[in-house]
Amino acid sequence: RQRVLSGIQPTSDSFHLGNYLGALQYWKNFQDDYDALYFIPDLHAITVAQEPKALRQRTKRAVAQLIALGIDPKKSTLFVQSQVPEHAELTWVLNCITGFGEAGRMTQFKDKSAKQGAENTTVGLFTYPVLMAADILLYRPHFVPVGEDQRQHLELTRNLAQRFNTRFKKTFVVPEPYIVSGTAKIYDLQDPTAKMSKSATSDAGLINLLDDPKVSAKKIKSAVTDTEREIRYDPEQKPGVSNLLVILSSLTGTPIVTLEQDYAGKGYGDLKSGVADALVEFVTPVQAKVAEYLSDEGELDRIIAAGAERAREIAGKTLAQVYDRVGFLAR
Ligand code: TYM
Repeated sequence: RQRVLSGIQPTSDSFHLGNYLGALQYWKNFQDDYDALYFIPDLHAITVAQEPKALRQRTKRAVAQLIALGIDPKKSTLFVQSQVPEHAELTWVLNCITGFGEAGRMTQFKDKSAKQGAENTTVGLFTYPVLMAADILLYRPHFVPVGEDQRQHLELTRNLAQRFNTRFKKTFVVPEPYIVSGTAKIYDLQDPTAKMSKSATSDAGLINLLDDPKVSAKKIKSAVTDTEREIRYDPEQKPGVSNLLVILSSLTGTPIVTLEQDYAGKGYGDLKSGVADALVEFVTPVQAKVAEYLSDEGELDRIIAAGAERAREIAGKTLAQVYDRVGFLAR
């Protein structure tokens, strides 16, 4: 069976709509026909300062959210990155075949470090994409389902895999990004030219899955549109309206052309109401499930422990090969 792997950071109390529509909604589709591994990259989370207690809670909440969103721990391997030490170990080896300039060209690093200033930027943030490459290469997946903002990191991962394979011996599978173009970048409702992100300066355009649905409905109703009246998919001329159409289409499974016909002659207020209703309908049962899974901590801990065990089996084998090929003594 071919393998699929992806991860999502535990850096806030809730995943957001961009995470879900850009990546998470596709994860469950791989469970039946692929060997799927999904994990919470808590090592990545500490590249920016985290409050320890909040990090622990958010890591568990993240696992509960994945299960609520349809990741079945009986079908997929669900694990937490810091419980699999091989991720950090492989990162060191990959650090040593990554160019300093190559890492410095990562646009996410450049953006974040420019925002924070050099004094507040850690070496961890700089080497973050190499850790991400290690996450992936350890498991030799064929596909990595992510949103558009991870494309460059996937490209680096592919380059490092090829470089290691050439310099030593064929060890890694060169993974393909799985990026669905229609939903790969969901935009901020208040600034439909910027991606929806928890690190935006204001959260008025951010829809968190676990927020009070009334708050989210309100945010949708105040989404930025444009001065025309026509409901038409045109990302260049009408980014706000197009973003709402993408969201509505994904949440309801209705093609965008059908929505354009349905809303012909109607106003932006009608479209926003439609999106708000679809969102409330989607998040309400998800929230109930998250609450249910969080109420049984013993079961959650068992799922996490079982996931780590399975992940270590795979990761340990790859790392042993890597250490041998690099010339380290057997442990
Ligand atoms: P993270 O935690 O920021 O985001 C999780 C997933 O959500 C996608 N995403 C979006 N998609 C569409 N529109 C948006 N506005 C939007 N915002 C976020 C992201 O592309 C991602 O797929 N570095 C990764 C986590 C990671 C990882 C990995 C992923 C660590 N190791 C190995 C895959 C494989 C990250 O920070 O994603």
